Amino acid sequence: METKLWAVDNLAVYKQSYPQLIEAAKLLRENEVVAFPTETVYGLGANATSDSAVNKIFEAKGRPSDNPLIVHIADKKQLNEIAEDIPNVVDKLIEHFWPGPLTLVLNQKSVGQTLSKKVTAELSTVAVRMPDHPIALALIKESGLPIAAPSANTSGKPSPTMAKHVQNDLYGKIAGIIDGGPTGVGLESTVLDCTGEIPVILRPGGVTKEQLEQVCGKVEIDQALVKQDEAPKSPGMKYTHYAPNAPLYIVKGTAEYIQKLVFSKQQEGLTVGVLTTVENESYFSADVVYTCGSIHDLQSVANQLYETLRKFDEAGVDLIYSESFPEDGIGQAIMNRLLKAAGHQVIYEE
Ligand code: TXA
Ligand code: MG
Repeated sequence: METKLWAVDNLAVYKQSYPQLIEAAKLLRENEVVAFPTETVYGLGANATSDSAVNKIFEAKGRPSDNPLIVHIADKKQLNEIAEDIPNVVDKLIEHFWPGPLTLVLNQKSVGQTLSKKVTAELSTVAVRMPDHPIALALIKESGLPIAAPSANTSGKPSPTMAKHVQNDLYGKIAGIIDGGPTGVGLESTVLDCTGEIPVILRPGGVTKEQLEQVCGKVEIDQALVKQDEAPKSPGMKYTHYAPNAPLYIVKGTAEYIQKLVFSKQQEGLTVGVLTTVENESYFSADVVYTCGSIHDLQSVANQLYETLRKFDEAGVDLIYSESFPEDGIGQAIMNRLLKAAGHQVIYEE
């Protein structure tokens, strides 16, 4: 199919002059699928109340149908049309973090629910978020709909942080792509289950555990994120994800040790890539060395992680060694994604 490309800058949104967004919103109302920027990663949006629209998301991405989608809203009023039994703690969280990279898992409204069952994969809960991006908010408002939107990548690939990543994965498969420039956070939203007594992080992301706890007290982490043999409560976390084409290994060791590994693989005739930070870049001698932000600014690592993983695909290396990152703050989400991208292959320095 023809994929339209629209370039929209945030200034146009503030001036409320955006014919492209009006056209994109019309396509959403016609149950077509459109990719748009959010503050985390690009999303692949469709009318969350239509089975046929939502099916198109699963088809374009090649996503397993038992993996539910996040419903994106632009106005708090939309929440009460979707969810019920909303605990008080959620009001505080919304007050602090919406619009923003926090997805709340809530009980679905039981009577008069208008969402397609395909959005929630038949679960009794629903995941909702209000993105903090002028284009996303204007598009959702303009459509007048709740918008189901996973990340706009082919299933299994790193999430897109630039419109060109969406184009690489989905051109010809979707109705349109809104190019709003690179996204801000670079990793997806935090998914927080608010259906129990204590909120539980199902997927670490843009809002950290520490930030959540400052607002709502104790927060737990789904044990499946810590222990690999537990079944995750967020269905999406069980799939291999974010993976570059070449095998990726996370090394817990010094730069010197990583360099030894590189030499030994090169001696076997393999082409080796290294993922490192600007501080260590000049230390390495490998076929390809890509930096991913600064070790002193983990937000910069989050911001560039997916772009860097995609660059290794373009370089066509045989294998990749990555440094590991501290797991505080946003580091928890970084290591979660990196470990998944590596299929949990970790090499410890002897
Ligand atoms: O930042 C983001 O969250 C991006 C942007 C586009 O908003 N979206 C995103 O969607 O990352 P997706 O589909 O790639 O990831 C959604 C995650 C999956 O792990 C899914 O299993 C989980 O949320 N999820 C959705 N509904 C759920 C529910 N009712 N209960 C538990 N987990 C749920
Ligand atoms: Mg995704």
